[in-house]
Amino acid sequence: MTRAIYPGSFDPVTNGHLDIIKRSAKIVDELIVGVLSNNSKSPLFSVDNRVKMLNEVVADIPNVKVMSFEGLLVDFANEVEANVIIRGLRAVTDFEYELQMSQTNMVLDSSLETIFLTTRLEYAYLNSSTVKEVAYHGGDISRFVPEPVLEQVTNYIIGLKENEDE
Ligand code: PNS
Repeated sequence: MTRAIYPGSFDPVTNGHLDIIKRSAKIVDELIVGVLSNNSKSPLFSVDNRVKMLNEVVADIPNVKVMSFEGLLVDFANEVEANVIIRGLRAVTDFEYELQMSQTNMVLDSSLETIFLTTRLEYAYLNSSTVKEVAYHGGDISRFVPEPVLEQVTNYIIGLKENEDE
């Protein structure tokens, strides 16, 4: 049985993430979406919020589970008995970071394989940071994030902006 982890910050989940989740779920028996909790990138959304949004988005995919994790990805993989890590590759600019990360994980645990799925062209430009930026300035993010979380993401970011303005 292949149990894979698709790890990330998911701050917030985008249509690009969802596409990788759906495609991975067809390839592996079980997919765990691993949401990094102690993230040095200082996420905008709390880990509970990111997990909640992902749960709403994957609700209709039976072999997908969402979990948060702290610390090293390889430790989390061992804990949940996963043997594969899945990452999406959007463009050549992602490659260096992804290569370093996969090779580091390989040195830390040689039994873990990383598999890369290339992002669909329609999502190649998309990332969570630009989604946040567009929403912050009142732009329409309906083409960027999955429908079940669109309102939550928009309202949360608008709320933050209003608090800053007060
Ligand atoms: O969505 P992101 O922010 O690109 O995901 C990065 C993530 C969470 C996959 C990566 O930061 C990670 O695995 N962090 C856990 C710490 C770790 O294991 N580091 C060693 C590998 S570089």
